[in-house]
Amino acid sequence: VHEVARKLSTQLELQPLLQTLTDAATRLAGAAYGAFFYNAPDAAQGHYLLFTLSGAPRETFEALGMPRNTALFEPTFSGRSVVRLADVKRDPRFGRSAPGFGMPPGHLSVTSYLAVPVIGRGGQVEGGLFLGHPRPGVFTEASERIVVRLAAQAAIAIDNARLYERERQARAHAEAASRAKDEFLSLLSHELRTPLASVLGWAAVLRSDVSGERTAQAVEAIERCGRAQARLIDDLLDVSRMVSGRMHLELRPVDLAAVLRSALDTARPAAAARSIRIEADLPPSLELPGDAERLEQMAGNLLSNAVKFTPPGGHIELRLEQRDGLAHLAVSDDGRGISPEFLPFVFERFQQADHAHTRSTRGLGLGLTIVRHLAELHGGSAAVQSDGEGKGATFSVTLPLGPRAPDPPR
Ligand SMILES: Nc1ncnc2c1ncn2[C@@H]1O[C@H](COP(=O)(O)OP(=O)(O)O)[C@@H](O)[C@H]1O
Ligand SMILES: [Mg+2]
Repeated sequence: VHEVARKLSTQLELQPLLQTLTDAATRLAGAAYGAFFYNAPDAAQGHYLLFTLSGAPRETFEALGMPRNTALFEPTFSGRSVVRLADVKRDPRFGRSAPGFGMPPGHLSVTSYLAVPVIGRGGQVEGGLFLGHPRPGVFTEASERIVVRLAAQAAIAIDNARLYERERQARAHAEAASRAKDEFLSLLSHELRTPLASVLGWAAVLRSDVSGERTAQAVEAIERCGRAQARLIDDLLDVSRMVSGRMHLELRPVDLAAVLRSALDTARPAAAARSIRIEADLPPSLELPGDAERLEQMAGNLLSNAVKFTPPGGHIELRLEQRDGLAHLAVSDDGRGISPEFLPFVFERFQQADHAHTRSTRGLGLGLTIVRHLAELHGGSAAVQSDGEGKGATFSVTLPLGPRAPDPPR
């Protein structure tokens, strides 16, 4: 047992650890076969049952399906008690509910039966160790003691393996975040460089333009590039304020419909340049507590995305309505849409569907992060819906119409 305990404590990966445990328990208890059934967290289904085996090929078990929570298994999976039986088939408590692990006749028949729960530090049942033998009366009190001690050692080792795994995942997450930041830096340099190159180009034109013919054009271009660059920097400042929790809004009564009309006016020239039609369905007015400038920024980000990610000739729709004490704002387009894989990440910082090096559009990937944060600062939320690539997208923002009710006293 000592030897095995040492071996268990050096193993940091769950699967081989459980194999060591199952093999050792089977061998030390003199069992013909052993199995360890355990719950593993699974993102999709919550939990699912896994197992490691000793003394029998995996196929024989897989063909039989998993043990159900029958009367026989209940004391083990609930962590209540050890079950040791000289002949499981004759035991009055379990009757026919345990036809030897549910084995078909002639296959891995189980007569002697020993089942020990493995209980973690926090009292949670990690799983159950099941041992069997075709002959009756194989498992003695001594073998029970050995297996119980093994189970206790295993519980500690499993806890450690889980800690190690969590640590490993946290590290992988941090590394990915750091990589994303590196990529963002190169993207940022590029995005800041482009308007600057234009400004310098037009400055050279101005210098050599003795006749003054192109002065107006040059000044206009310089202004446009300067504004574009200022917008990028404003977004950066906003995000850094958001991240450090320094963005605060002063909410006062605002007519959201008027704010949206103003955002529309700003978006129309860019849409017209791409032959994109914008339709608006707005009430004459809709008042709510908000920050007019920030609300316009939010709508502007959604509209400029819709214009950017919709091919020429496309349509955009801006809707605002009041429902269930909330303002519902939606921007829909029939543009390139969003793949189901990318959909969960659209609101994340630095995230863009296109790869930085190959993409056809510009931007820092901060617009939607800002949209969501502003919606939340208003006590609302932001959401996205898209049926997939090429199927268009709808971004919606929901905002409360009145100040949030204070939390009821407990
Ligand atoms: N209307 C839209 N249609 C399709 N994809 C969109 C739309 N709006 C946003 N996206 C996707 O979400 C990403 C993040 O958007 P955003 O945060 O505004 O950053 P940026 O516009 O700088 O790329 C975009 O790069 C794009 O991949
Ligand atoms: Mg954007």
